[in-house]
Amino acid sequence: MTRIAIFASGSGSNAERITTYFADKESVSVEMFLSNNPIAGIIERGRRLGIPTVLFDKKTFSKTNKIVNLLQNQQIDLVILAGFLWLIPENLVRAFPNKIINIHPALLPKYGGKGMWGHFVHEAVVEAGEIESGITIHFVNENYDEGKVIFQAKCEVDSTDTPDEVARKVQALEHVHFPEVIEKIIANM
Ligand code: GRF
Repeated sequence: MTRIAIFASGSGSNAERITTYFADKESVSVEMFLSNNPIAGIIERGRRLGIPTVLFDKKTFSKTNKIVNLLQNQQIDLVILAGFLWLIPENLVRAFPNKIINIHPALLPKYGGKGMWGHFVHEAVVEAGEIESGITIHFVNENYDEGKVIFQAKCEVDSTDTPDEVARKVQALEHVHFPEVIEKIIANM
């Protein structure tokens, strides 16, 4: 049994997709959601899906070992970041080497790094006149968006696309590919 924990700061649509994808699979279980944001959509999704959801503040996350201890006590094998905005502290990276996976809504190394999240990414893509964008699923290290790339998928960006339209195309890719890529990672663990 592979036990997953999902971190999210926002709506949590990817977290929900992953949870429902694995719901009928016996070898994988989504055990918990974790969030820094008490008004994030992920909280309501956790309630509806029956997934225990843990809230934490910046100090607890960055300056203590509490979250690492919690994940270890729950025997979590794989940590998924699905729209989680804070930098992962070194103690967490070290406790889960190559076991923390992030999704980024662009084709890294382009449009990554601090401040490049959500609509900022899609605005920058449109502003630069890119003809394609996409998703990157990668391992997490101590720097934003720099760990080894596992998977990328592309979509076209039309010259008339707004950032919102690019966001919709990218999110559609995320919902299809993220659960499947996680399943493949688990198969190779
Ligand atoms: C996704 O686009 C993800 O790539 C980005 O944040 C968004 C999260 O969306 N890092 P949701 O909360 O899963 O709906």
